[in-house]
Amino acid sequence: MSSELTPAQQLEKMRRDWDDRARENARYYVNTERDDWTDEQFIASGERTIAEEILTDMGNICQGKDPQQMRVLEIGCGAGRVTRALAGVFGEVYAVDISGEMIASATRFLADRPHAHPFQNNGTDLSVLNPHVADGSCDFAFSTIVFQHIPSRAVIETYVREVHRLLRPGALFKFQVQGYVEQDGVAYESTPDDTWIGVTFSDAQAVELAEKTGFEPRHRHGANEQYFWLWFFKR
Ligand SMILES: C[S@@+](CC[C@H](N)C(=O)[O-])C[C@H]1O[C@@H](n2cnc3c(N)ncnc32)[C@H](O)[C@@H]1O
Repeated sequence: MSSELTPAQQLEKMRRDWDDRARENARYYVNTERDDWTDEQFIASGERTIAEEILTDMGNICQGKDPQQMRVLEIGCGAGRVTRALAGVFGEVYAVDISGEMIASATRFLADRPHAHPFQNNGTDLSVLNPHVADGSCDFAFSTIVFQHIPSRAVIETYVREVHRLLRPGALFKFQVQGYVEQDGVAYESTPDDTWIGVTFSDAQAVELAEKTGFEPRHRHGANEQYFWLWFFKR
């Protein structure tokens, strides 16, 4: 396929590719550490992510609020690996993913977690949540290993604007983007029709993204690395 995709064709390609990956081996493509995850191992992997990125950071995330009273968002929930662990900490979790196959897998995996709500979305905004989640009613948003796969700066920017719409003022969107600017001396570049390698953000581009979407980019960690973490606080 040529690189000259319309935005709609690009979203369709993302959905199709992730549905194919989910049909082949959802848990492997969610976390490529293993291709034979058991339920127990997959649960433990989500809990490790939460232990590293959430439980170490409860001051920024909760800001004095009881986690059980918090409503959180997750972008790109895949098979529910992190969603399940988030639901062990927070009162309500609303999660979206572009792939219906991933959402079917997440729905099965979260069947005993009635306060975790996975939805298939259109791959760029959070309108699917509008009947359930009012603007300004969410306390925290999270995303990991998702934007690093999205080959469109415009799609990522739309997500950041949408998260801003749903968060309450002051709340945090903590998320990871691809931070490689070059690898082995070669510029790291995505192409519009490759749905595995996403666009990369320099530190300056991360700051610019925050400023134009109404966030304060208070902390950043891992610039020039694959796991470039951003702490965006809603102004
Ligand atoms: C590597 S998996 C990670 C899943 C989950 N965040 C985790 O860490 O377990 C990436 C997920 O992002 C989803 N994804 C890719 N592009 C997306 C988009 N434009 N909108 C929403 N989800 C997307 C894929 O369907 C896939 O489930």
